Amino acid sequence: MSMADSRPIGIFDSGVGGLTVWKELINILPNESIVYFADSKNCPYGSKSDKEIINFSKKNVEFLLSQQCKIIVVACNTATAAAIDFLRKNYNVPFIGMEPAVKPAASNSKTGHIGILATQGTFNGKLFKETSRKYADNIETNIQIGVGLVEMVENFKADTNEAEVLLRQYIEPMINNNVDQIVLGCTHYPFLYNRIKKIVGNTATIINPSIAVAKQTQAQLLKYHLETSGNDVYYKFYTTGKIKIIIKIVKQISKKNHKPFIFKSL
Ligand code: DGL
Repeated sequence: MSMADSRPIGIFDSGVGGLTVWKELINILPNESIVYFADSKNCPYGSKSDKEIINFSKKNVEFLLSQQCKIIVVACNTATAAAIDFLRKNYNVPFIGMEPAVKPAASNSKTGHIGILATQGTFNGKLFKETSRKYADNIETNIQIGVGLVEMVENFKADTNEAEVLLRQYIEPMINNNVDQIVLGCTHYPFLYNRIKKIVGNTATIINPSIAVAKQTQAQLLKYHLETSGNDVYYKFYTTGKIKIIIKIVKQISKKNHKPFIFKSL
């Protein structure tokens, strides 16, 4: 591939959560066009079987490949856990996956207690089990399934008292267990940051792996010579859910003066 590969980066999630990764990608890769696919109709993935998640992921990837994407970011911890091996085996394009940031949490912890908030599917995956064994063997890991949180974000209710009530149930026991690191192990959760911070205060560091994933994407583009210095940058958003929600969220998290935004429902 030439040094000026202007094909877009593809990114997908079960819904709008992966926009937290998109936001970091546009910051560090301002010359790259991006096609985002939100499978909000089938969201949440977290409580579904691996087989179902693999099928959804297959469709999402095939859609992104039909848009000529040169690399695909699976901006969903749950889909990574269930489907990344399958995707890497079956499609001839580099994939970047996500996993809960157990490693930095364990190495930064002074109390020896860390908290991880993620979906059932992510905790069930072998990736999480292996990472925990490898990096957090001597650490007490407080795991918590964030039941209902993804739905709050999908319904534009992230910054509400209703979301805070759920978050308190999940996070206060972690704080009482002396955790000093809390990992946001689902790409939807950074949208809940304000409410999480309100609960956590200065007792723990909140770890959002999105920046690390964006950097990893940049490294892979360089490795495979897929980067572009790009002029005609665009951002396309496709959703199987409600178009109004994705428009609202993209506008909320984007800085002004961005390149053309194109929204479509499927
Ligand atoms: N954003 C997905 C993740 O990172 C949400 C999972 C879901 O759809 O339940 O895990």
